[in-house]
Amino acid sequence: MSALSGIVTYRKPVIENIMSTYTSEDQRKVTTMRLIEMKRRGEKIAMLTAYDYSMAKLIDEAGVDVILVGDSASNVMAGNVTTLPMTLDQMIYHAKSVVKGARRALVVCDMPFGTYQGNPIEALNSAIRIMKESHAEAVKMEGGAEIRESIERILSAGIPVMGHLGLTPQSINKFGTYAVRAKEEAEANKLIEDAKMLEEIGCFGIVLEKIPAALAKRVAESVSIPVIGIGAGGGVDGQVLVMHDMLGINKDFSPKFLRRYADLATIINEAVGHYVSDVKTSDFPNEKEAY
Ligand code: KIV
Repeated sequence: MSALSGIVTYRKPVIENIMSTYTSEDQRKVTTMRLIEMKRRGEKIAMLTAYDYSMAKLIDEAGVDVILVGDSASNVMAGNVTTLPMTLDQMIYHAKSVVKGARRALVVCDMPFGTYQGNPIEALNSAIRIMKESHAEAVKMEGGAEIRESIERILSAGIPVMGHLGLTPQSINKFGTYAVRAKEEAEANKLIEDAKMLEEIGCFGIVLEKIPAALAKRVAESVSIPVIGIGAGGGVDGQVLVMHDMLGINKDFSPKFLRRYADLATIINEAVGHYVSDVKTSDFPNEKEAY
């Protein structure tokens, strides 16, 4: 926080070690309406994933606008290869922890695979459980026209929905690869139509994952709701990254779109190595660290 009361000061990447150049206007709670206003004003939206209380508190204090309780928890928390095994109970557990740490950021929770695709009533019940039990403020769902009815049913209950188009990891078995999506005209056209449909039925935002930057820019210019990109270039209204990737906790994943802002794997490895050595040599605890 800067010396000016109520102003959040953002830090440049620690890798560059350059401090604070720009500020957000206030510390008010971020709402879906505020995100739409931010797009209108041309103010970029910073979104990041979190899965627990402590990290949610840290990233909220650092000024993130939206915290996504992503089903990427399946990869970075549970060690699964895909996001498919994640259950509703597990998402609710993570979201509940994140909500307690988030003071300013809007908390959006992913609806896990198999809880919304088949039937709009099941989708509504899943979304209601997320909202009621975790106190998250919105849900995110992967897909376009094929899940329209489920999205509409959830919206009709007053639950804000964020769409997710492009590379939708819950469909990895259909795609067969994590390569860039919508490079062909037919898929690009469908994506634009889906984005317009999501806006029309009342979604408050859309995540676009791993698609050509020119297409993402076109989508962002075609809708009035915020478009948040991951691997979708700079022509959109905001960016989202998986926290473990951008902090260098998970170093096995290095796609072209990822910028690493820290090397926490090395920091943690060195700190823990130091601790192990202190224990083995009886250096820890010393007299001052004992009762
Ligand atoms: O689950 C997740 O973390 C996501 C982001 C990659 C957008 O959906």
